Amino acid sequence: MACGRRWRLWAIPLLFIRVAGQGQPMTESQVPAGLREWIGLDFCGEERWVQFHGTLSGVVRHFNSRDFATALRGLGELLAETARSTQAAFGCATAVMSALALAAQCCDHLQLPVLATRFRQLSAIFGSYDYQMKGEDYIDQSPWPINWKQNMEGILRSMAFLKQQELQLEPWRGLAARSAAQQFPTRDDAQRIAIVTVCDYDPTQTPLARLSKLNRDAYAKLHGYDIVMYDKAPLFTDGLTYLTEKTRPPAWSKVDALLETLAKGQHDWVMWLDCDSFFMDTEVRLEDILGIAQSRCPKDPGDGERLKELVRKWKAGPQQAPDDLLEWYDNLLDSYVSWDDSCESLEPPADAPSNRTLGWSDWLFKERRVQLVASEDGLMLNTGVMLARASVWSWAFFQKVRWMTFGRSPVTQHPWWEQTAMVYLLQFPFVLAAASDPAVAAKSQGYATAWSPLGQKTINGYPPLVSSALLTHTTFEPGDFIVSFSGCKIYSSQEVCNQLFLNYFFQVHSLPALADDPALQPWL
Ligand SMILES: *[C@@H]1O[C@H](CO)[C@@H](O)[C@H](O)[C@H]1NC(C)=O
Repeated sequence: MACGRRWRLWAIPLLFIRVAGQGQPMTESQVPAGLREWIGLDFCGEERWVQFHGTLSGVVRHFNSRDFATALRGLGELLAETARSTQAAFGCATAVMSALALAAQCCDHLQLPVLATRFRQLSAIFGSYDYQMKGEDYIDQSPWPINWKQNMEGILRSMAFLKQQELQLEPWRGLAARSAAQQFPTRDDAQRIAIVTVCDYDPTQTPLARLSKLNRDAYAKLHGYDIVMYDKAPLFTDGLTYLTEKTRPPAWSKVDALLETLAKGQHDWVMWLDCDSFFMDTEVRLEDILGIAQSRCPKDPGDGERLKELVRKWKAGPQQAPDDLLEWYDNLLDSYVSWDDSCESLEPPADAPSNRTLGWSDWLFKERRVQLVASEDGLMLNTGVMLARASVWSWAFFQKVRWMTFGRSPVTQHPWWEQTAMVYLLQFPFVLAAASDPAVAAKSQGYATAWSPLGQKTINGYPPLVSSALLTHTTFEPGDFIVSFSGCKIYSSQEVCNQLFLNYFFQVHSLPALADDPALQPWL
C-alpha cells in the first residue's frame, strides 16, 4: 500500500493519451472530436474531492490498523454517495479507482474473494477512463493510493481465480455449448428470436459484412429465427433522441438496435451478435443456450404484452410538454416495471444505493428471473454476444444504458462504451450494497440476479491469434458454438484478419456453393 506518502491534489499536464488502454499513444490531433473535449479534464481539485480525500484518509487509517470490516463499510458509503452520479464519479476517476481498489483489498483480507474481484472490475472501469483521458503517468503520480499496472495485474489474478472457482462449481462451463446443453432439461417450446447485428464495414476492405450475413441467414433458416441486419449504425428515435450527442461513438448503436427490435414486439428474445462473430456449431439452438442460462431460475415473466403497451405509450410521448421530460419517461417506466421474488436460489440485496434517473431502482435490484444473458471474459462483462428477453425489464435496462450518454456525459466517451454503462448498472450498486452490510457480503455474487453470465467457452470464444494477444480471453476450440474476432485488427493487419474470417467461415459453409457470390468473388 502506497498510503504512507503525503497527499497532493494537483493536475498533471497531459502529453499523450492512449485509446482503449492498448496500443501506441495518440497525439491530440489524431483524436476524434467528441473524445478531444474530455482529454485531460480534471475536477479533482473541487470541494467534493477534497472531502472524498478526507474520508478516504480516515478509511486508510482503519485499513492500516487492520480493521478491514470498518474500512470496507466506510468505502461503501463514500462510493455510494459519489457513484450515484456518473458525471460526478468520472470527474476524478482515479480517486474512485483507488477507493475501489482499496475496497477489493479489504475484501481479500475478509475472505470475500468474489466481491474483491467485482470491486477490481469496477476499479478497472474508472482506471481505464483516466488512462485514456490522461495517461498512465497521471494515475501513477496522482495523490491517490493507486498504481495502474499493479491494479491491472491484480484484476487479472482475481479474475483467473474467479473463473477457476466457477469451473469447479459448474464443470459444464468448460464444455462446448452442445455438450453443456445436454446437462440441462431443454425447454421444448420454440422461442421467437431475432438476431440483431450492425455491420458498418467498407466492402472494398473486408468481406466481413457479407460473410456475417450469409452465416446468420443460414443459421436462422435452420431454426426459424429472424435476422435484423443494419449496414449503418442506427439511432433509436423517440422524444429523447435530441439528447444524443452528434459525436457519440458508433459502438453505442448496438443499444439502439436492440431497442428498435424490442419495440417491434414480435419476439420473445432478442439476440445481439457483433458483426465479427460467426455461428460455428449451427446445430446448437438458442433455446439450448437459454436453457443453460436459466437453469437457476426458469420462470418466465411473460410480460411481452405489457412491453408492447409500454412501447406504444413511450413512442407516443407526453401529450403536453412536461416540466421534466426525463421524469415523465421515468414515471411511465415505473408504472410498468414489476419483479418476481419467487426464485429462492438467488439473493438480491435488501438495500442498495438508489437513483431512479440513473436506473439504480427496485426493478434492477429485485428481479430474479433471467432477463439478460451475456458472457464474461477474463476481465469483465463482454457485450459481443447477448440475449435480452423481450420484457419490461430489458426495455428499462437498455433505455437506462442509453440515457447514460445523454447530454454531455463522460460515459459516452469511455473507452469501453456501452460495456461501461452496463457494468455500472449490473454490478456497481450490488457491490456497494454488499460493502455496507456484512450479511449481504457473505452471500453476494456482486451483480444483478437478472443477468446470467455465461463463459466465453459457451457463447463467445476468440481465435488463438486474438486470445493469445489479449490474455484475458478464452480460446475458441473446434466444436464451440460461436467464434468472435473482436480485437483482431489491433493485433494484426486487415489482410490477416480477412484471411482469418474466411478460414473460419468456410469451416461451416460450402465453398463451391458460394463461389459465384459476387460480393465474395474478389476475396476467393
Ligand atoms: C442521479 O442520476 C442522474 C443521471 O445520471 C444525475 O444527473 C443525478 O445527479 C443523480 N443524482 C444524484 C443525487 O446523484
